[in-house]
Amino acid sequence: MAVRSVPEVVVRPAREDDLDAIVDLFATVAAEGRWIGTEAPVDRERRRQAMADALGEERTALLVADAQGQIVGELSLRLAGYGVADLGMLVAAGWRRRGVGTALLAEAVRRARAAGAHKLTLQVWPHNTAAIALYERFGFQREGYLRRHYRRRSGELWDAVVMGLPLD
Ligand SMILES: CC(C)(COP(=O)(O)OP(=O)(O)OC[C@H]1O[C@@H](n2cnc3c(N)ncnc32)[C@H](O)[C@@H]1OP(=O)(O)O)[C@@H](O)C(=O)NCCC(=O)NCCS
Repeated sequence: MAVRSVPEVVVRPAREDDLDAIVDLFATVAAEGRWIGTEAPVDRERRRQAMADALGEERTALLVADAQGQIVGELSLRLAGYGVADLGMLVAAGWRRRGVGTALLAEAVRRARAAGAHKLTLQVWPHNTAAIALYERFGFQREGYLRRHYRRRSGELWDAVVMGLPLD
């Protein structure tokens, strides 16, 4: 796959001192209101604590895209005991369409495989064509469709697409 080069961006595991920046990024993308499950306002303290706890866990991975000290993307992986790793990711609005998502996802696939996962899974809003296009480029397939599944704070019930990528 041709990966557009973003030489200034390095994908690496998150560290404790990244957590405030990751929470900021998360809150900013949540405030966009259209792309991720979490809605604004984000409970920053709770989110930070959850990530701090995850840093020490064997079955979770938290990756960041680091652009010379600025955290411009984040990806979390959680490996279930039955061998499926669930992922969530986001890239800062000003850094999208420059290969950051691709770099994060490539590293996540590598790590999931190395951790013994036989499959990656995720959920995505049907209107999130950017994310679906990225996942399909990596070979994810649509495996299911959850109708009127997630209640938003507005009271709307949103559908979600379930996607999967076998690794075995
Ligand atoms: C989805 C997201 C992570 C993609 O990250 P990214 O860094 O922009 O992705 P890349 O630049 O690596 O794009 C790789 C490929 O994905 C597809 N893609 C990405 N953005 C796209 C868009 N807006 N429209 C169509 N295809 C798109 C393209 O095939 C693209 O390759 P190309 O640029 O050579 O055409 C990013 O848009 C994002 O963070 N969105 C908000 C949060 C979000 O939706 N998270 C996922 C929740 S399920």
